[in-house]
Amino acid sequence: MSKLFTSLQIKDITVKNRIVMSPMCQYSSINGFANEWHYIHYVTRAIGGAGVIIQEATAVLPEGRISYADLGIWKDEHIKEFKKITATIQEHGAIPGIQLAHAGRKASCGLPNKGGVQLKEGEHAWLTVAPSSIPFYAVDNPPSALSEAGIKDIITAFKDATIRAIKSGYKIIEIHAAHGYLIHEFLPPLTNMRVDKYGGSFENRTRILFDIIDAVCPHINNEISLWVRISATDWVEGGWDLNQSVQLAKLIKEKGVEVLDVSAGGLTPDANIPVSVNYQVPFANRIREASGLITGAVGLLTEASQMEKLLDTQQCDLIFVGRKLLRDPYFPINAAKELDSLNLSPDQYYRMF
Ligand code: FNR
Repeated sequence: MSKLFTSLQIKDITVKNRIVMSPMCQYSSINGFANEWHYIHYVTRAIGGAGVIIQEATAVLPEGRISYADLGIWKDEHIKEFKKITATIQEHGAIPGIQLAHAGRKASCGLPNKGGVQLKEGEHAWLTVAPSSIPFYAVDNPPSALSEAGIKDIITAFKDATIRAIKSGYKIIEIHAAHGYLIHEFLPPLTNMRVDKYGGSFENRTRILFDIIDAVCPHINNEISLWVRISATDWVEGGWDLNQSVQLAKLIKEKGVEVLDVSAGGLTPDANIPVSVNYQVPFANRIREASGLITGAVGLLTEASQMEKLLDTQQCDLIFVGRKLLRDPYFPINAAKELDSLNLSPDQYYRMF
């Protein structure tokens, strides 16, 4: 049996293989509600054989949406549509997960296929919030620096969103602390110039993440797993880096986080990123070795043999797959055929090979 199709036990959760659908915004929601598009999109990838489906960045507050078309989970009314998605994903043998997010200073943007830039006044823009009043692009409307009371409200919003996510049937809660969104903005001094307990030292800059984990953890039982996505490096001088990520990983493991999903970049527009095959994998590898956390690698992982090698050489435990699963929802079934000659197709598709 290949490593890619070996199951992974996390508490009471059995993940049937190591392929995780990476969270990917669909920009298809009205007022945060899931609809038929989300149902078909996610269920198709579950039928395609992914072990875990992590639903796209789902905003814990309306102002935490990247765009007005992001999914949201800031009110109980959102639960009903999510329940349909999670139930059907599970029927097809995949574990449903959700990425809980707040976009911070990168909120209030238009849709990516229309340029994706910050909305202007008169285009239904809203005021963004961040640790400090520093815009992402110099031309952007600067975010408002959060008060301590504002930070507390956001921590509570993550807790409430977790409770709603569990009611909705998600088994994995992934906190989005990557890609230059709100939690990430607190981590490096480049975007966090605060002088209160949320700025300055490493302990202070990481405090918001730990406060969120502390607020969420009491709601996590053995049937639910807590994951965090980070950017292991900002790829810029003075930014967040791998050594700090390792330090963070060790601490969040002690707090009860089970999986670290290791991405990179997104904090500043001027980063020089050496994009190539496996370019983010060494980060996952180092964090895995140093922390003992279950670790996911992501970024340009597209071939079954490539994934198999990463697992076989113990560079990571999970393979997060993004765009490949947009191009080919049945990639996991095809990969099983390639590696093991196994027919993992659903009964209805048994004659597909
Ligand atoms: C993304 N990505 C992303 N990441 C994240 O943490 N939350 C999100 O909601 C999104 N949204 C999103 C939308 C789209 C259309 C794309 C293509 C990407 C990043 C994604 O999860 C992944 O990390 C990258 O795409 C790199 O992996 P691949 O695509 O090379 O496998």
